[in-house]
Amino acid sequence: MIKVIVPSTTANIGTGFDTMGLALGLYNTFYVKKSSSKVKHDPLIDLTIDNFLSYLDQKGIKKKYEYVDITVNNDVPISRGLGSSATCIVGVLWGINELYDSPLTEKELLEIGIEIEGHPDNIVPCLYGGFKSSIMSKDKCLTIDHPICEELQFISLIPNFTLSTKDSRDALPGKLEYKDAVHNISRIPFLIEGFATGNLDMIKAGVEDKIHQPYRIGLIENGKEIMKLIDKLYNLPIFISGAGPTLMVVAKNDSHVYNELRETFKSKFPDWDIKQLEVHKGSITIERME
Ligand code: HSE
Repeated sequence: MIKVIVPSTTANIGTGFDTMGLALGLYNTFYVKKSSSKVKHDPLIDLTIDNFLSYLDQKGIKKKYEYVDITVNNDVPISRGLGSSATCIVGVLWGINELYDSPLTEKELLEIGIEIEGHPDNIVPCLYGGFKSSIMSKDKCLTIDHPICEELQFISLIPNFTLSTKDSRDALPGKLEYKDAVHNISRIPFLIEGFATGNLDMIKAGVEDKIHQPYRIGLIENGKEIMKLIDKLYNLPIFISGAGPTLMVVAKNDSHVYNELRETFKSKFPDWDIKQLEVHKGSITIERME
């Protein structure tokens, strides 16, 4: 049996829409083993298994395939913008590949994963950890590893309702104002520099996005109110994590913001869970078990 431990991620990070993401210390664990009969899994797990197998077919690898049985220990909340789908795709692909003695390369697995997910911003940091920018250029995934200041912490504000990526993408407009595109592009260097140095003012400017968050925030009940509250109380950066509905506050390790927010939310927004997360550095963990 193969055990794969995969981190959650927060993608977009304001102006880095569909490109930037970072891995966080909250994990899903996948157990992958051979099975003598077909097992029905969650649809995303079965889709990932099917894509892996058709890739083997395309490559003409005549590998005797046995059924697989995959179980998941889920700590990453589902459909909340914390990369649970990416954990599933990565856990399943890397788990089966290890189970079958690595018929596919890491590059090939990454290609399958990005194809299923549709964008690389969650998959790449989920696999390699840290803070990454990723783009697809002529079918090749190009990635930059950005430095990230050790003092930064990420406070996730997680509501008790879900928001599907599809609904969140459907809320986006077909066209953008030229000035809004310029607004976003001009802030990206400040986001990168802010994360490298821990300068919260720069990060705050860097997460001020105009191309997706304004269209999505209305889908998150109390979202606007919470963003305003964080701004008023702490003047800290806050952004929609991935496609939402989780909101992510960036703070420094020595701040009392986390404890204060827990108290404030208990009375004002009791249905929201607050988690303080560190950046996860390094790759996923793959273990062969007896
Ligand atoms: N970049 C994607 C989006 C992340 O915002 O729609 C969702 O997984």
